[in-house]
Amino acid sequence: MRVLVASNNPHKLEEFRRILHPLGYTAVSPADEGIAVEVEETGRTFEENARLKARAFASRSGLPAVADDSGLIIDALDGEPGIYSARYGGPGLTDAARCRLILDRLSDVPLANRSARFAASITYADQGGREITVGARVEGVIAHEPRGVDGFGYDPIFLYPPTGKTFAEMAPAQKDAVSHRGAALRRLAEALSGRFDAGILR
Ligand code: IMP
Repeated sequence: MRVLVASNNPHKLEEFRRILHPLGYTAVSPADEGIAVEVEETGRTFEENARLKARAFASRSGLPAVADDSGLIIDALDGEPGIYSARYGGPGLTDAARCRLILDRLSDVPLANRSARFAASITYADQGGREITVGARVEGVIAHEPRGVDGFGYDPIFLYPPTGKTFAEMAPAQKDAVSHRGAALRRLAEALSGRFDAGILR
């Protein structure tokens, strides 16, 4: 089945393609379909924003759409950057500058208090009115310095304790096997195949 990935973020698109392919889905991008949709993320939660994006892309494209809203939640920063992860520190910053901003804010915080998690809500919406939202998280720790070159966003500072590596030091398939996005997309595929029937799965 072809699904439209409701995102213009090339890194997210790549992850969706990689994860959905073995699950039997062909992920196409808005650019592949010649569609340009900008959705204002006005929701107060990852779930609300994922729904907004999936509905908008499905209704404009005529294809089933899958949208992800995701972010990094840092306990020592009271949950920041959370739903503002993509714009944290202002719109002009690079991923590396956003990582640096977080490291600076945590400069006095010892490893024991640097717990964090990535969260993703993913919504599937189609023209038949079927809508499924799933969510998943992965627990980690904010490293003291960026490490690794793979991945995107906050991957270089997100230390995944079972491997002792940051997500940017893990091979893409290794990240997908444990990541918030990988787990959520596998749950979505299960729900779509009817292995369990639920409107909202968390
Ligand atoms: P949005 O869901 O497009 O609003 O943005 C999510 C933002 O959260 C991304 O731009 C990244 O900064 C961050 N993020 C989400 N998932 C990941 C991930 O797997 N690795 C690194 N950063 C992520």
